[in-house]
Amino acid sequence: MNSAPLGFFDSGVGGLTVVHAVQELLPAESILYLGDTARLPYGSKSPETIRQFADEDVRFLIGKGVKAIVVACNTATAHALPHLHEKYRVPILGVIEPGVEAALSSPEAERIGIIATHGTIRSHAYQHALALRKTGLMIHGQATPLLVPLIEENWIDHPATKLVLKNYLDPLVEKGIDTLMLACTHYPLLIPVLRELLPGDVRLVDSAKTCAEHLKKELTRLDLLASADREGELQLYLTDLSEEFEALARQFLKKSPGKIHRAVLGG
Ligand code: DGL
Repeated sequence: MNSAPLGFFDSGVGGLTVVHAVQELLPAESILYLGDTARLPYGSKSPETIRQFADEDVRFLIGKGVKAIVVACNTATAHALPHLHEKYRVPILGVIEPGVEAALSSPEAERIGIIATHGTIRSHAYQHALALRKTGLMIHGQATPLLVPLIEENWIDHPATKLVLKNYLDPLVEKGIDTLMLACTHYPLLIPVLRELLPGDVRLVDSAKTCAEHLKKELTRLDLLASADREGELQLYLTDLSEEFEALARQFLKKSPGKIHRAVLGG
């Protein structure tokens, strides 16, 4: 079982930011990644639809024999993780708890801004998880739905992106946030622009690294770590294949994604 792959899923290729962090920390682990590119975005869908999609994604991964699953999508974690835990016995981890842990790892974190899709902000999953761990926090969630399409167009340094970001960030800056949580798979790519636009003392929290650390702890606890004397492989499955997704996958993974397979769900 320990040599079986880890399963990851996301609405698209953004979850490869988490895969990248896991490959750095756990190079012996093989990874099977499913990106539901045919049905993205998840961020604007209803909770019921997201739960249904997440269910199908998990069934696909279980069918491929994975030993544990990472929901590498903030929106799917926000709406579907408790439902998935109830339904499946395979260990399933999300990105919210590790993100919250990273945000509160600094005792100075008092005024926290969250940027994410409409779905994630509306679910209040981050707000609840933060408030449960620390009392007296000022928490402000800001839906930032235009950022995913701008990043996917590779308009990261574009003046339009800076203008949109400024509109989203101004209310958070006015509230005096000391921490900004990047609660969406795609946002780590915006870190250089965010640093340019935010006051220098605002701490940025990217949960990909913390998620990898959390996964390592869980695999150790469950005695599921792959043996260290081998190199893990990555298998990438997408529900829709296009040249754009291939180029994006390379950008998120910071290297060639190798051969991409077409996934058919619900079979
Ligand atoms: N993967 C989604 C997330 O992290 C962003 C893209 C989408 O809306 O599907 O929330």
